[in-house]
Amino acid sequence: MNENNFQTLKIEWRKLAKALNKYNQAYAYGNSLIPDDSYDSIKARLQEIEVIIGPQKSSPLQKIGHEVDRKAIVHTVPMLSLDHGYGNEWIATICKRVSNNEWIAEHKIDGIAIELRYINGKLSQAITRGDGKYGYDVTMHVQDIVPIIDKENLQVRGELYMTWKNFYSIQNLFATPRNAVAAKIMSKTNQNHIKIDFMAHELVNSNYETYAQSIQYIKSLKLQTMPTYICKNYNDIQQFFTDVQNLRNDLEYPIDGIVIKINDLSKWKQLGAHLTAPRYAFAIKFMPQTQHTEIKDIIMQVGKFGTITPVAILKPIEIQGSTISKATIHNLEELYKKNYQPKDIVQIAKAGDIIPYIQQIVSKNSTETVNIIKQCPVCKSIIEKRNSTWKCMAGWNCEAQKLQRMSHFVSKKAFDIKGLGEKILQDFIKQNWIKFPVDILNLDLLNDKQLHLRNGWQRKSVEKLQKSIMHARKRPLHNVIYGLCIENIGYDASQILAKNFDSLQHFVNSFLSENYICDIAKIGPIMVESIKNFLIKDMWIEKLLKIL
Ligand code: IVH
Repeated sequence: MNENNFQTLKIEWRKLAKALNKYNQAYAYGNSLIPDDSYDSIKARLQEIEVIIGPQKSSPLQKIGHEVDRKAIVHTVPMLSLDHGYGNEWIATICKRVSNNEWIAEHKIDGIAIELRYINGKLSQAITRGDGKYGYDVTMHVQDIVPIIDKENLQVRGELYMTWKNFYSIQNLFATPRNAVAAKIMSKTNQNHIKIDFMAHELVNSNYETYAQSIQYIKSLKLQTMPTYICKNYNDIQQFFTDVQNLRNDLEYPIDGIVIKINDLSKWKQLGAHLTAPRYAFAIKFMPQTQHTEIKDIIMQVGKFGTITPVAILKPIEIQGSTISKATIHNLEELYKKNYQPKDIVQIAKAGDIIPYIQQIVSKNSTETVNIIKQCPVCKSIIEKRNSTWKCMAGWNCEAQKLQRMSHFVSKKAFDIKGLGEKILQDFIKQNWIKFPVDILNLDLLNDKQLHLRNGWQRKSVEKLQKSIMHARKRPLHNVIYGLCIENIGYDASQILAKNFDSLQHFVNSFLSENYICDIAKIGPIMVESIKNFLIKDMWIEKLLKIL
């Protein structure tokens, strides 16, 4: 390989490693930024490159989870991950790799791995997996959901998860049950409305002969365990996998595959583990569910900060019980590279059961080439490339950005004003009733008749809006900061900021003061810059200060 090729691969390696680190970190905190199989293909490409350029010291392939950034607690036995693959081919590979074994098969719960340490029957600590060597203490969130057990000292590992029932009861707050679990355990305060459960799947340092016996023991202590199935060979595993796949929608909890473990624990010692996963247990994940359909149109969405996202409008199809009529395309670069066009037949998959995306083109029926976007599709202003995305730079002058920011302002985690969907907001903007989000808080000053007339609203709807606005004026500071819609300041950052200021006025004055140095943990320089920019440019904050 010549030096040029080496350098090109090294550059690609750096890019992929950076992305993978970012995805790992986000995943550990409960956010899946990309579909599982896209993640796997990045990982596979990284492996491929390392075969050519050699193993890299700082490679994310050498790490198990994310790096721990809180007070770390050491794992007495490393908490590993599982090697995984998809479907029957992977089952065959495993059976070839470790043949002639009795396996125990279980559900692979889609939750967050945790270790419980019991001393004299009482839970002394619950620790996350972290980076496998160190995790952090989340005892306060687990205390009430696990039983006191019989005088025992023991370490049990398992999964913190959320049942579908509990997930649907806090609808719209989180994208997936796993995200909800992560949000709860990452919080420093009690989050009693987020209900989670624990399911055990490993007894650490077990003296039993078989895995089945150690699970039986855990069960006898009244800790929750999963049903286990004995599999003797490829056919049994394949059968179990198919059965579980068919029944997954009937289960109380989310799963993303099955796990198989050799039953004989002496083999666990013999086979040991490689750096990140054992050689005696494997995860077999469900293939993402897919369907073919036709692209009807490609439209451009402009986000609240101007990011342009192409969206494929599809001939509606049904996957896993829900109708899918559009799929987002990662960014414009991907649209240009793949050249998706109306009439093309594409394979759509639903990742993690939630977000539909285009997996591949099945049949390229269009002969056209995608037009390169040179201006904002909504306001026609200039666009600029930032990292791998293109952004409209018009800010408030772009109708799309304006509407998105208004929608954000009224959303549940912000000012929580009910009854103002996009269409109504659009209409109110057209009427000149609202120029900036703050004007929404004055909508109740309009006389009832005006509101009635606009939407054919009944008295009840008007009253509902007025009541919502009254509440919104008293929103806690973290919701207010979040509602301002400051770039790079999400809900978590808003919560952190709110803890450091007494009022919105205090927050604004501090950031606008020349002498202010922000030393709040987790609020980095890019965030500080965003806040300052917002406060200098978005003058409507003055009006908001007067209202709140
Ligand atoms: S056994 C060495 N059994 O899947 C790790 N893990 O992708 C042994 N998981 O970190 C884990 N259901 O958090 C095991 N029935 C099950 C599981 C399970 C879910 C999680 C676990 C693990 C992750 C690996």
